[in-house]
Amino acid sequence: MMKIADILKDDMDGKDVEVRGWIHRERGSNKLKFIVLRDSSNHVQCVFNKEMFEDKWAEIDHLQVETSLIIRGTVKRDERAPTGYEVKVKQYEIVGKSENFPITKDQSIEFLADMRHLWLRSTKMTAILKIRSTVFGAIHEYFRSNGFYEYQSPIFQAVQCEGGSELFSVDYFGRKDVFLAQTWQLYAEPAIFALEKIYTIAPSFRAEKSKTSRHLTEYWHAEMEVAWADFEGIQDYGEGCIKHIVKNVLEKNAAELKVLGRDISKLKPTLEKPFVRITYTDALKILKEKCGMEIEWGKDLRTIEEEKLTALYDVPVICTMYPKKVKAFYMMEDPKNPDVVLGCDFLAPEGYGEIIGGSQREHNIEKIKQRLIEQGENPAQYEFYLDTRRYGSVPHGGFGMGIERVVRWICGLETIKDAIPFPRTIERYKP
Ligand code: 4AD
Ligand code: MG
Repeated sequence: MMKIADILKDDMDGKDVEVRGWIHRERGSNKLKFIVLRDSSNHVQCVFNKEMFEDKWAEIDHLQVETSLIIRGTVKRDERAPTGYEVKVKQYEIVGKSENFPITKDQSIEFLADMRHLWLRSTKMTAILKIRSTVFGAIHEYFRSNGFYEYQSPIFQAVQCEGGSELFSVDYFGRKDVFLAQTWQLYAEPAIFALEKIYTIAPSFRAEKSKTSRHLTEYWHAEMEVAWADFEGIQDYGEGCIKHIVKNVLEKNAAELKVLGRDISKLKPTLEKPFVRITYTDALKILKEKCGMEIEWGKDLRTIEEEKLTALYDVPVICTMYPKKVKAFYMMEDPKNPDVVLGCDFLAPEGYGEIIGGSQREHNIEKIKQRLIEQGENPAQYEFYLDTRRYGSVPHGGFGMGIERVVRWICGLETIKDAIPFPRTIERYKP
């Protein structure tokens, strides 16, 4: 048995092969039946000649899209075939029938979402899923080769970290004060005292009530935390990781990017040039001067502002020193200016916006308690976390990267929903 990609080669011309897969397209005449067979590696056109299959012709003629088959035949170079080669079928075996596959041309986005389990087989989704796999692999490779341990936090948590309004509460044996993880962070910080450099890739959950092209309620979160880190160092890791991801996708997924119509010249600067590093205050100035947008100091950047700002650059922008009141309680106050925190958002170019959020962590326990109180939290719930500041605290920090945000940007997708196999949003939790 061979993969289809391996038979599409000059030295296979004239050879007998065995391949298996699914019917991607079919058409026929009264003498010939053409099918395009698909496996995970590629497509190849296979031709049945009626003269060879007189007694089986009714069955062959009836073959429909998505039927699974094993085919034995001879490879032949043919310029006219979709992938440049054809298999002249000598023998075939139907493995699984498919009649009236529900997905045909020109169906609505809603219908395709209902048929997601079948739509995953489409050329577009297959390309995205391959790129997504490369992205996951590149993240593991980047952190492991930089001396990080892979570490896991619980998904059931009894604290909030990124704001209570977006927490999913779980009925935990009748208790209501248990939530799905928004981030691993509060359970990661305790572990740097053992492992120093850690990372994870895990699902995170946000009860996002907004319908946008960049919010999911369940997403995959790549997070890292490092002991002894300074603020610049954390940004360097983020930049290094993104460069490594883009490098891998460009190397391994040229064919998939082509299927998606992604202009790769838009991705190359991310690999070749340093990222732009600006402060929040600079960002406001740039937005005013170049985009005519006036934003009051202290307001968080909204999607529209991130879009306008990042449209000015061809590499990700690292925006730092945000107003303290718009950022999470654990971000460290700037020693030179108590109004801002050492937090950094990485904004993808071309208007894709935030892909990473990170920070240097506050180590002053009183400041953390104060900020929890200001946000309406009870510091007593956070005792386990506050212990990290009581026993051998060290400067540290980390970040979280939304993998679907990164996949969306790299693939140039209209919506984040196509960056994950089964998207979960305020409106959709099926199939
Ligand atoms: O900026 P966020 O909320 O930061 C944290 O969770 C930190 N605790 C991370 C850390 O320092 N360890 O989320 C991090 C990233 C965002 O930059 C974004 O890419 C992604 O997670 N993200 C989402 N992706 C898809 N759908 C959503 N609803 C998302 N919310 C955040
Ligand atoms: Mg954020």
